[in-house]
Amino acid sequence: PRRTRVHHLQEMKARGERWPMLTAYDVNTARIFDEAGVPVLLVGDSAGNTVLGYDTTVPVTTEELLVLTRAVVRGAPRALVVADLPFGSYQVSVEQAVTTAVEFMKSAGAHAVKLEGGAHYADRIRAVVDAGIPVMAHLGFTPQSEHALGGYRVQGRGDDGAEKLLADARAVTEAGAFAVVLEMVPAHVAKRVTAEVPIPTVGIGAGPECDAQVLVWTDMAGLSDPARRTPRFVKRYAEMGSVLADAASTYAQEVREGTFPGPEHSFD
Ligand code: KIV
Ligand code: NA
Repeated sequence: PRRTRVHHLQEMKARGERWPMLTAYDVNTARIFDEAGVPVLLVGDSAGNTVLGYDTTVPVTTEELLVLTRAVVRGAPRALVVADLPFGSYQVSVEQAVTTAVEFMKSAGAHAVKLEGGAHYADRIRAVVDAGIPVMAHLGFTPQSEHALGGYRVQGRGDDGAEKLLADARAVTEAGAFAVVLEMVPAHVAKRVTAEVPIPTVGIGAGPECDAQVLVWTDMAGLSDPARRTPRFVKRYAEMGSVLADAASTYAQEVREGTFPGPEHSFD
């Protein structure tokens, strides 16, 4: 099978073809999403919430994401695998950003990296791109900065907000990013950014006019803890949580009753 490449995404934008991205954190989801035809998989630092059980993405480490990235790469023969650079692994300096990005490529086999930030991080983006590593940027609500942003809030509202978002989108494009995630921004602002920058925009809570969309797979498949509030921008396409709960409780019941294992599961 042919691997999705960065230039394919650019070509899809030129043709006006929308494409989906999903997060993946392990080999089975990577294989399933790849076979389902999802061309780009993101090993998001949302793993901090969805896999590791932290309240935020702030504590996630490079080591943790390297392990998950290796698993996703092994499971996905076709998808372009993008690895999130975790908080603290690129903020310190341009040099740190390149070192971390190189590690994801070299030791985990990622095909691209993603980092959060606009004009202020253009120097990091430029340096990583110069190292031969495709970079996906991430603007709007950037979860690694949630304490600075005052929690989960829509970004880019009002004239100033929209202008700043546009300026950031231009800056990351200029720095060489191959795509840009727009998280929780008004639909009309995302539409404007999509029209004005030549690179694909990947929306999450950014309306229908982006070139691409991304969702966290555990949200979209209904595996996330139902006690946690599901954001407005999530659509649940399945109820994996109840499917798994039913399987686990039926298994538990059959073990207790002595109906599992049956003769067909046993050796002579
Ligand atoms: O970590 C993540 O899952 C992300 C996407 C929501 C864009 O950054
Ligand atoms: Na992320």
